[in-house]
Amino acid sequence: MTRRATPIAVLISGRGSNFEALHQATEEGRLPARIVLVLSNVASAAGIEHARSLGLHTAVVPSRGAESRAAHEVRVREEIEQSGAEWICLAGYMRLLSEEFVAAFPNRILNIHPSLLPSFPGLDVQQAALDHGVRISGCTVHLVDAGLDSGPIVGQRAVDVRSGDDAASLARRILRQEHELYADALGRLLTEDWRIEGRRVLFGPEAGIERAD
Ligand code: GAR
Repeated sequence: MTRRATPIAVLISGRGSNFEALHQATEEGRLPARIVLVLSNVASAAGIEHARSLGLHTAVVPSRGAESRAAHEVRVREEIEQSGAEWICLAGYMRLLSEEFVAAFPNRILNIHPSLLPSFPGLDVQQAALDHGVRISGCTVHLVDAGLDSGPIVGQRAVDVRSGDDAASLARRILRQEHELYADALGRLLTEDWRIEGRRVLFGPEAGIERAD
């Protein structure tokens, strides 16, 4: 049986390397998804240019100068709904989503963050991790709620902090793990049985779901 490719939207604000990693995973058949929209809130985002060059459907909905956060979100929602996307992947999308937005796509929005959450949410997290003296950092893919980098955790990868690391070197090694983790985590959600219990995302037998086939 060939699995249907789930339509996904990827939201970015900048470089877009996680978008590229997701795209590559779809192209290589490692992720049963197809990117139907790449949306940026920043017109100059490098990732949007790259998405255009790949022939993907793109949209820029500038947040700067928008009438209000609510008005901006309405436009973003329209783009997503028109694209037919069933999942939304935030990939360096530097906007907090409102409760209304999150409620419009219940448990269908994912985010990737460059720390082992719940440690170090927010910005400049590699520097914060180094300043705190952690020995291990990493990255997290989680379902999105209206909080800051909160929401049930789908997957994590650990990265050792090395002596001599600065924020840039740590960020580079974490980013390599991000690129693998994002496609893996989304792939599991698209192909396995899962449910949420409290804050936990339970997969397969752990979720108490028996497959009929
Ligand atoms: C990534 O490191 C991602 O984890 C982070 O922004 C970077 C975007 O890079 N996201 C967050 O900090 C969200 N809280 P990219 O544009 O190359 O994918």
